[in-house]
Amino acid sequence: MSQNNYREGRLLISQEEIEARAQEIGAQITKDYAGKDVLLIGILTGSVLWLAQVVKSIKLDTTLDFMSVSSYGASTKSSGVVKINKDLNNDIEGKHVIIVEDIVDSGMTLEYLCKYLSGHEPASLKICTMLDKPSGRRVEIEADYIGFEAPDAFLIGYGLDADQRFRNLPYIAAIEQEESGENGGNTEQEIPDSDGTDTVAATEMLLW
Ligand code: IMP
Ligand code: MG
Repeated sequence: MSQNNYREGRLLISQEEIEARAQEIGAQITKDYAGKDVLLIGILTGSVLWLAQVVKSIKLDTTLDFMSVSSYGASTKSSGVVKINKDLNNDIEGKHVIIVEDIVDSGMTLEYLCKYLSGHEPASLKICTMLDKPSGRRVEIEADYIGFEAPDAFLIGYGLDADQRFRNLPYIAAIEQEESGENGGNTEQEIPDSDGTDTVAATEMLLW
């Protein structure tokens, strides 16, 4: 189902803006957790660039761990059933845990992860996301630290991918379909998400 007739579109958030915001959030975390140690859990792969920026501004004893998850099944929207591809390397019991994500869309991945991680009895559990896309929300979940609010469009760059491409862009952009014959680039297209297993319908992506 891999389709590659899309390309980088309009620039939305510059590298400078992302990095300045990451610094603010790192400073906020430093304040909020003063006197404590924190454990950041990065959700692979999309969160890696954002995590790398935020963690540099956290002036606390900080450790890192990573999980890789994907939506289970072949539906075009997140099914809510999450498969763990890579679990934590270390025990989180009694630790102050912050999940670091690239983007919260339906919220189903994070809802699952919060339940899963709570079961391991951390001292506290919060969420830090680079982008929040409230228009996509299907379950009630709110991140505690949000870089930017995202519009209802498919975004790439700074870790976010379309079919595994574009993660290395040092900024966030919208994606565009290339003009393609009869369709004129305006039909619904399924773009695999960052883990390549579930998909996101991207009908709206040319609207802005
Ligand atoms: P959800 O909140 O469970 O729907 O899933 C969030 C995941 O979907 C993110 O971690 C991304 O991997 C992917 N995703 C959602 N929206 C976008 C987007 O605009 N660009 C790239 N990946 C996206
Ligand atoms: Mg992801």
